[in-house]
Amino acid sequence: MSRKIWVFDTTLRDGEQVPGAKLNLSEKLEVAQQLKKLQVDIIEAGFPASSEGDFNAVKEIAQKVGNTDDITITALARAVKADIDSVYHSVKHAEKPLIHMVLGTSDIHVEKKFGKSKNQILDIGVEAVKYAKTLLPDVQYSTEDASRSDFEYLWSTIEAVVKAGATMINVPDTVGFAEPEEFGELIFKLNDRLKNLNDQVLLSVHCHNDLGMATANTLAAVKNGADKVECTINGIGERAGNAALEEVVMALNTRASVYGAHTNINSKEIMNTSRLVSSLMGLEVQVNKAITGDNAFAHSSGIHQDGLLKSRDAYEIINPTEVGLDDMELVLTARSGRHAVKDTLRKLGFGQLTEEQFEAIFAEFLILADKKKEVYNYDLYVIVKNYFAGQNE
Ligand code: KIV
Ligand code: ZN
Repeated sequence: MSRKIWVFDTTLRDGEQVPGAKLNLSEKLEVAQQLKKLQVDIIEAGFPASSEGDFNAVKEIAQKVGNTDDITITALARAVKADIDSVYHSVKHAEKPLIHMVLGTSDIHVEKKFGKSKNQILDIGVEAVKYAKTLLPDVQYSTEDASRSDFEYLWSTIEAVVKAGATMINVPDTVGFAEPEEFGELIFKLNDRLKNLNDQVLLSVHCHNDLGMATANTLAAVKNGADKVECTINGIGERAGNAALEEVVMALNTRASVYGAHTNINSKEIMNTSRLVSSLMGLEVQVNKAITGDNAFAHSSGIHQDGLLKSRDAYEIINPTEVGLDDMELVLTARSGRHAVKDTLRKLGFGQLTEEQFEAIFAEFLILADKKKEVYNYDLYVIVKNYFAGQNE
C-alpha cells in the first residue's frame, strides 16, 4: 500500500537564504499562495526572530494562506525562548500553526559552535521543547548536522525531545555530507527506535546538495521509513541548495513501485511555481535542471525526435503535461529530421502539404538551421509563407 509522504516546503526560509534572493512581503505572500495551490502540506514561511520584516511576512502568510486546515504554517526558531516566542506570535494566526526549532547534535556543533557539553545541549533542547509545548501542540525539533552526529547521542536527543512533547523530528544533512546508502541506513535505525517509542511522531529529513546528492539522499530516506521531506522549489537554498521539491515529488510519482509512497502535490502546478520563484528571486534555473530546466522536456536530436514520434516512451519518462507544461517539445536544429519538421508543421496548421511542397520547405529549413542554433516555430512559419508567396508570383 502506498504511504503518504508529507511535503514541507522551505523555499521562503532556507531558499531565501540564497544571497540576493530576498523577497518583500507581497512577493513572499505570492509565493506562499502558489505553494498552497501546489498543495504542499507545510510552508516554512521564514525566520521571524531575524527581522521585523520577516516576522510580519510570516504573520501575514499565517493569516492569509494558513486560513484553512489543509495547510500548516511554520517558521524557524533557535532553541531559545525569544526565538520561540517570535515564531509563536507570527504563526499562531494560522489554523494549523507549528513551531520549528533547531539545535545541533554533532560534536562540531555541540563543542566547537556552542562550547558546551552534550548533556548541556540536550537539556537546552528539552527545556525549549517543553516551553514551546506551553504555546502550541505541534512542535518540530531539528537535530542540526544529524548526519555527522554520534548515533547514540543523536538518538538520546530524539528520545528526550519526543518525551518532552516534540511531534515531528527532523533529521538534517546540514552540510550535504551524507551519501544515499549511509543516510538510508541512519533513517532506518532512527525510524525503528522512534516508532517503538511513539508511532505518532513524524520522522522527517532535510537534505542539502553540497555533493549533488540531496534528492538521492531524500529518496533513500523515504525508502527507509521517513514520513516527511523538506524541500525547496528549484532546489534553491544555502550554498549548493536543498533537495528540489519537483525532483523528489516526480521521482516518487514516476517510480511509485520502487518507493511505494505518494505525496499530495498537484504536480500540474510545478512549472508555475518554479517560474514564479525563479522570477521573483532573480535566480535563473539551469537549463538542464531535472524537471524544471528549460531543456528538461525538450528533444533536439533527430534520432530521438524520430523515436518519440513513433513511440513517446522511447525517450520520455514523464509526460510534460504532468508538470504543467505544454505537450512534447521538439527543438528544431540542423540535426532534426524530416519527421520532426513535418510534425511541427502539422501543429502550425500546415498538415496538408504535398511531398513536393514539403521537400522544398525542408530544404529551406536545412539552410536556415545551418546558420542558426535553433529554428523556432516562427522561422518555420516564415519559410512556409515565403515558399507560397514565391509560388504565387
Ligand atoms: O540545514 C539545516 O540543518 C537547516 C535546519 C534549520 C533544519 O536548515
Ligand atoms: Zn537547511
